[in-house]
Amino acid sequence: MPSLIKNNSLYLETSSKKDLIAFLKSNKYTSHFIICDSNTLKHCLTPFILACPQLKEAEIIELEPGEESKDLQVLTSILQTLTDFGADKKSLIINLGGGVISDIGGFAASIYKRGIDFINVPTSLLAIADASVGGKTGLNFSGIKNHIGTITQPKGVFIDPVFLKTLPQRHLINGFAEIIKAALVQDKKFFNTLSSLKITPGFNNLSVISQSIIIKNRVVKKDPAEKGLRKILNFGHTVGHAIESLYMEKPLPLLHGEAIAIGMVIESYLCLLLKRISKKEFDSICSCLALNFNFHPLLQHDMPVFFNYFNQDKKHLNKAYMFALLNSIGKCDPEVKVSSMMVEKAIQYYNKKIAHVS
Ligand SMILES: NC(=O)c1ccc[n+]([C@@H]2O[C@H](COP(=O)([O-])OP(=O)(O)OC[C@H]3O[C@@H](n4cnc5c(N)ncnc54)[C@H](O)[C@@H]3O)[C@@H](O)[C@H]2O)c1
Repeated sequence: MPSLIKNNSLYLETSSKKDLIAFLKSNKYTSHFIICDSNTLKHCLTPFILACPQLKEAEIIELEPGEESKDLQVLTSILQTLTDFGADKKSLIINLGGGVISDIGGFAASIYKRGIDFINVPTSLLAIADASVGGKTGLNFSGIKNHIGTITQPKGVFIDPVFLKTLPQRHLINGFAEIIKAALVQDKKFFNTLSSLKITPGFNNLSVISQSIIIKNRVVKKDPAEKGLRKILNFGHTVGHAIESLYMEKPLPLLHGEAIAIGMVIESYLCLLLKRISKKEFDSICSCLALNFNFHPLLQHDMPVFFNYFNQDKKHLNKAYMFALLNSIGKCDPEVKVSSMMVEKAIQYYNKKIAHVS
């Protein structure tokens, strides 16, 4: 992968072994802690350490895989291990894993001793193309997605798509949702490239991956604290997070990207209702997403719970909600007022015309 963006505030670099080795050498950390889950421990840790001999002595903190690890108790156990092993202000946390690991590991680093350095070594498509960049860290609380967290930039993001070789297919597809979102909010030409792309096993398209990272990095650099522009990256997430939270209570939860894909369909319909996009654009968004994602129905009896989570995620002003909504494919406004009636209408349309039981 070409060197993406060097020497800017995000320190986003390629994961060529030499970049990471040089980073560790120049920073002289007193100790290293690698946070991973049991899958990334099995598939990614050995090649990672072999490539980086300075990390031979690193302490390994292993978490259970999955969203349940973005939890206060897990955070406590990480902080306890750091304390037990004498981590100090000059220790480094290395998040080796998907978005769950970079979210909770980054959060732990951002609060331990009021903040120690961390780097992300993303291993899932979702983390490579999106979650490892931008500095959002956090965990879920009381069933609400990302309810607690910080925006703290990693000292480096070392990306090596070689890790994707062992990523299960469902998780590969999951990561594609955030790539489609990046295109929808910023780059029509990129969306056109993606619109007929079906993610097959072994997907490793470097130009697609790097384009997504470049878009995210560009937006974050302009508005790191999410005061305005960065909110466009939440397209699909206002509805998507509520769906993800709702499904967390069900026997078969949805993955983040799977929920966001449904969120993007419903929020695109809001764009259509508000005459911000044409029916043709709406249809092309739906068919691009349908190539890779299932559109699970939102059951009527789940609606009170859905709106409960939805209201947590969004500020509502006089029965209206603020959404990041498309102006057209490739353009997005960070804040558009939408009435609760319109949200209900969009969900009804989704259930009637788009959703299907798979
Ligand atoms: N901070 C942000 O900006 C941001 C952005 C988007 C999403 N997120 C968060 O990211 C999370 C989702 O990320 P995710 O999909 O990477 O989840 P994840 O970290 O749970 O990883 C997905 C699964 O793949 C496994 N895995 C990861 N890499 C592997 C590899 N190379 N080989 C084999 N198995 C591997 C993991 O063990 C896990 O089972 C959500 O919590 C979401 O809220 C954060």
